[in-house]
Amino acid sequence: MEKFVITGGNPLTGEVSVSGAKNAVVAILPATILAEDVCRIENIPNISDVSAMIKILDIMGAHIKYINKNTIEIDTRHINSFVVEYELSKQLRASYYLIGALLGRFNRAQVAMPGGCYLGVRPIDQHIKGFEALGATVTMEENAMVNASAQRLLGSSIYLDVVSVGATINCMLAAVKARGLTIIENAAKEPHIVDLANFLNTMGADIRGAGTDVIKIRGVERLHGCEYSIIPDQIEAGTYMVAAAATHGNVLVKNVIPKHLESITAKLVECGVNVEEYDDAVRVSLSERPGRCNIKTMPHPGFPTDMQPQFAVLLSLAKGTSIISESVWDNRFRYAEQLARMGAIIHVDGKTAVVEGVDCLRGAPIKADDLRAGAAMLIAGMAASGVSEIEEIHHIERGYENVVEKFRSLGALIERKDFPDNKIQMGAG
Ligand code: EPU
Repeated sequence: MEKFVITGGNPLTGEVSVSGAKNAVVAILPATILAEDVCRIENIPNISDVSAMIKILDIMGAHIKYINKNTIEIDTRHINSFVVEYELSKQLRASYYLIGALLGRFNRAQVAMPGGCYLGVRPIDQHIKGFEALGATVTMEENAMVNASAQRLLGSSIYLDVVSVGATINCMLAAVKARGLTIIENAAKEPHIVDLANFLNTMGADIRGAGTDVIKIRGVERLHGCEYSIIPDQIEAGTYMVAAAATHGNVLVKNVIPKHLESITAKLVECGVNVEEYDDAVRVSLSERPGRCNIKTMPHPGFPTDMQPQFAVLLSLAKGTSIISESVWDNRFRYAEQLARMGAIIHVDGKTAVVEGVDCLRGAPIKADDLRAGAAMLIAGMAASGVSEIEEIHHIERGYENVVEKFRSLGALIERKDFPDNKIQMGAG
C-alpha cells in the first residue's frame, strides 16, 4: 500500500507552477469526439483522471499521439462505437460527458453511470432533461446503462433547475451540432465551462454567453480540428495558496489566472493572509496565526466547494471560531474525522461545520476520503508538528500533477512510501 509520509512544520517557500485544469480537460477530451479532424491539446495535466479518459477514448478507437508529457494529438475519426461499459466509465465521474459527445456525433449513446468521488447523491436528472429537450429519448437500463438516442437533435430551450457544471457541459456537447438554436438558462459559469466553449468555438462552433448564466449555441454542420491549450487549474492553485498560508510560508504560485482565484483570495485576505496579484501569478505569505472567517460554498463566482476541505485546515489553525456552510454537496465533511485525529476541533451538523481554531495540529495516521479531502490532509500534514501518514493517496493523484515533487520543491518533507499490506489474510477452508 502506498502512502504519503509527511514530516510537518516546515514553512513552504519558493515558486510552484500550476498545471492544466482537471475539470476542463475531462470535458475537452470527450469533446474531441465531435471533431472531424486532429486536435492538438496542450497543457494537459498528467493525472489519473486524464489517463482514464484517454484510455477510454483509445479503446473506443481514437488515435492518440503524445507529443510530450503534457501535449497530445488526438484523432477521433475512427471511433465507430457509441457504447461505454461500466468497467471503463466507473474510473471517473466525467465519463458522463461521453453521453453528450456521442449523442452529438452519432445521435446515439450508451454509457454506464460513472464513478468519481463520493460526495453524497450525484443525480444526472438535469443532464437527461437537457438531452430530452434536444429531442433525444433517454432510458436507464437495469445495469446502470444510460441509453440515449435521437433521429436528429434539434436546438431548444433548456432551463436547468439547479446550477450544474456537468449538465451545462453535457448540454453544450449535445447541442453544438444540433440543428438550430439552443439556449441554456441558469447555466453554470465556472472557468472550465468557458474553456470548453472556447475549445468548441476554436473547432468552428457558434457558442456565446459562456461564463454567464445564459448560453446560446447555434448548431453547426461540422467541427474541424484545432490547436488548444487548457487553462490553469483554479483548485490546484488555491490548494497551493492555502498550503502556503497554513504553513506560515511565502510562495509564488505561477501560471494562474488571478481572476479565477478571486473568491479564494478574498477569503484568504479576510483571514489576514497577504496575497499579491501579478499578471499570471499570485504570491501568498503569512507569518502569524490566521484569523477566522465564515465560508459558504456556492457555484462560481461564489466560493468553490472544491476548496472547502483545504480551507477547513487553515480555519482549524485560526484565532477564533469559523462556520463553514456547504451548499453544493450533501456529504463533504468526511475529512473532519481525520482532522480531529490531528487535534482539530470541528463539529459537523448536516451541511454545516463549526471550526474552533487550535494552536497547532499534531501529525497522525490519516486517510484521503476523496480528492479534495486528500488535498486537505496534505496541507494538514505539512502544517502539523510531527509525522503524518496519508492512506488512499490514489484519490489525490486523480487531480494533482506531480504533487510530491511540487511540494518538495517548496521545502516540504514529503515522500511516497510503499508499505506492506497489513490486512489480515483469511485462511482457506
Ligand atoms: N445536481 C442535480 N442534478 C443533476 C446534476 C447535478 O441535482 O442532474 C446537483 C448535484 O447533486 C449537486 C449540484 O447539482 O448538488 C452541483 O452539481 P454539479 O453537476 O455542478 O457537479 P458535477 O458536474 O458532478 C463538478 C466537478 C466537481 C465539483 C462540482 C461543483 C467535474 C468533473 N466535477 O461536478 O469537482 O465539485 O462540479 O463545482 O467537473 C472535484 O474536482 O474534486 C470535484 C468533485
